[in-house]
Amino acid sequence: MPTTLVTGATGYIGSHVVLALLEAGHEVVAVDDLSNSSPESLRRVSQLTGREAAFHEVSVLDRVGLTKVFASHEIDTVVHLAGLKAVGDSVADPLSYYEVNLGGSMNLVRVMAEYGVFRLVFSSSATVYGEGISPFAETDGLGAVNPYGRTKEIQEYLFGDVAASGSQWRIALLRYFNPVGAHVSGRIGEDPVGKPNNLVPFVMQTAAGRHEQVTIHGDDYATIDGTGVRDYIHVVDLAAGHLAALGALDTHVGCRAWNLGSGVGSSVKEVMAAAERAVGQPIPHQVGPRRPGDVAEAVADVSRANDELAWTTQRTLDDMVTDHWRWQQSNPQGYTD
Ligand code: UD1
Repeated sequence: MPTTLVTGATGYIGSHVVLALLEAGHEVVAVDDLSNSSPESLRRVSQLTGREAAFHEVSVLDRVGLTKVFASHEIDTVVHLAGLKAVGDSVADPLSYYEVNLGGSMNLVRVMAEYGVFRLVFSSSATVYGEGISPFAETDGLGAVNPYGRTKEIQEYLFGDVAASGSQWRIALLRYFNPVGAHVSGRIGEDPVGKPNNLVPFVMQTAAGRHEQVTIHGDDYATIDGTGVRDYIHVVDLAAGHLAALGALDTHVGCRAWNLGSGVGSSVKEVMAAAERAVGQPIPHQVGPRRPGDVAEAVADVSRANDELAWTTQRTLDDMVTDHWRWQQSNPQGYTD
């Protein structure tokens, strides 16, 4: 079985990816600096799978530390998820975003090449499409509109250039749409530090009584009900997409992008209604002004991922909010419970 190194392994997406890899029989080397996540997530992953990932507390900025990890395992493939991801923070502190996201990727590629590891799956984002016209296809032009998004876009160029430098490279760029939900066990899930900016975590914390109400950021968009439309994808389907991409690297040489979304758009009001069904009671909300930087609609064209990765999402919006609520209810304070 292959040995797969995952950076950002203890995070929300990382923990679900590690679980999927362990379930598929991979040996997993998990790397994280724990700056925005807890090692408890991986303890729970081993309880759920009965298997253990080898964990190293190392930052992707620490080239010497990364080298030691590569020296102590026979790594076949890297899944690179480590990075900073808050849009607002990236506007306030762009340098940290460039330093961590670009610096981390550059270190990683250097060390991979040194150890003869040329297979990489990278966590990109639909944010690279910027203000383009939804639904977004991989052939659309890129144009991220904030520093966080630009670091993702630049990393895509970086990996494209690296792949073009030698035919041994095989790199998958996975453009995530809006990951939500949690593992069906309710044991692992998203554990945001501070007040969440993203819709579903905020809605669930409000349902749990941690916030007074949800503010819907604008209801005057040109969408079905005036509220913003997004392509929500269950995090377990997203993790399965990484396994599918790992498989595709057997046949795809060079660098290739795939959208990971459901292909279905849901409005904020539809998400609210689904969340209320899952919770079984009304969740207080009001309509406020638009949030600066938001687009009306961002939905994936998923035909390339469906065809080339033989992968489609299995879970509905109701599954996403039901699973997210189970996680929220059984871990009201996240991993500290
Ligand atoms: C946001 C980021 C995006 C990033 C993604 C990662 C912005 C502008 N975009 O995407 O770059 O890749 O998170 O998770 O920050 N909404 C409300 N009330 C809320 C929160 C959100 O109405 O309290 C609405 C938003 O206006 C939007 C939808 O819910 O229409 C989804 O918002 P969110 O979860 O923040 O995701 P994105 O904006 O799509």
